[in-house]
Amino acid sequence: MNRQFVANFGSYAVLDNVGEVSAAQLVPSHISCPPYFKTGEPSTPPSGPEIKAEWQVQAMREASYLARTVLNTVGEHLQAGMATEDIDILVHNKIIESGAYPSPLNYMGFPKSVCTSVNNVACHGIPDDRQLLDGDIVSVDVTVFYNGYHGDCCETYLIGNVDELGHHLVRAARRCRDEAIAICAPGVPFAAIGAKVEQVADQEGVTVVPCFIGHGIGKYFHGPPDIYHCYNNYPGTMEAGMTFTIEPIVAQGKEDALILEDGWTAVMLDNGRAAQFEHTVLIVEGGHEILTEYH
Ligand code: MF3
Ligand code: CO
Ligand code: CO
Repeated sequence: MNRQFVANFGSYAVLDNVGEVSAAQLVPSHISCPPYFKTGEPSTPPSGPEIKAEWQVQAMREASYLARTVLNTVGEHLQAGMATEDIDILVHNKIIESGAYPSPLNYMGFPKSVCTSVNNVACHGIPDDRQLLDGDIVSVDVTVFYNGYHGDCCETYLIGNVDELGHHLVRAARRCRDEAIAICAPGVPFAAIGAKVEQVADQEGVTVVPCFIGHGIGKYFHGPPDIYHCYNNYPGTMEAGMTFTIEPIVAQGKEDALILEDGWTAVMLDNGRAAQFEHTVLIVEGGHEILTEYH
């Protein structure tokens, strides 16, 4: 899995198989766990977008702040030679130390505490024994369950010397997310998010991967509304007190992804790279607040 040249997409290592996945980390008994911790089955979310009361918004702020703090710690430690399972250990321990639960762990059977997606992996990469190489890009998606609420964020990081096409992809992905967040306010249709993401992706010459969507978030990891990152006609408009994620994945090549035999790892069909950025957003009177904003 050394760096190779992929026609039109640049110079990077293509991941085409899953690595060795070690046993899941343990959760001490004093941590309060989400309902799926034992069974893998999430409980039923509300039937429509929820308007949160101020105390619930406060809990969302705290969970989201913690998710961002953990993601920042990852950003400070990432370097070539680190295995993605080392990222998992770092994330797991930091979340447990903070008295929270790493939301991915056993969510629908996910075997680890964070998603790590390298180069041509679009999302849901399972941390394993593969070491990061100079020139890789890696998306790290951290979600925590804290005081009964989830906070969710993701960034794509550059490892060492990444080629110019890789730099461009990562900048474009961040811009897609941030410009879509910028339009969020009461009265704006959810469908406007996808239109904005597509518009920016077009300008940047990258492709939205449409099959992965953002989501309402609260006591539940995933719930209504669905947030499409492509042109769509999903019904409904934003209202103050709603919390949801915006998390577009953009790719260098075609939009098609497939899931590897582990049931999770989504790779781009054409081996092009993909990058993703995610924030948890709160709608407030006159605009929005980014709950997982960098601090
Ligand atoms: N954090 C991802 C999201 O943004 C979901 C990961 S699901 C898991 O929605 F099971 F893979 F953790
Ligand atoms: Co996420
Ligand atoms: Co999410």
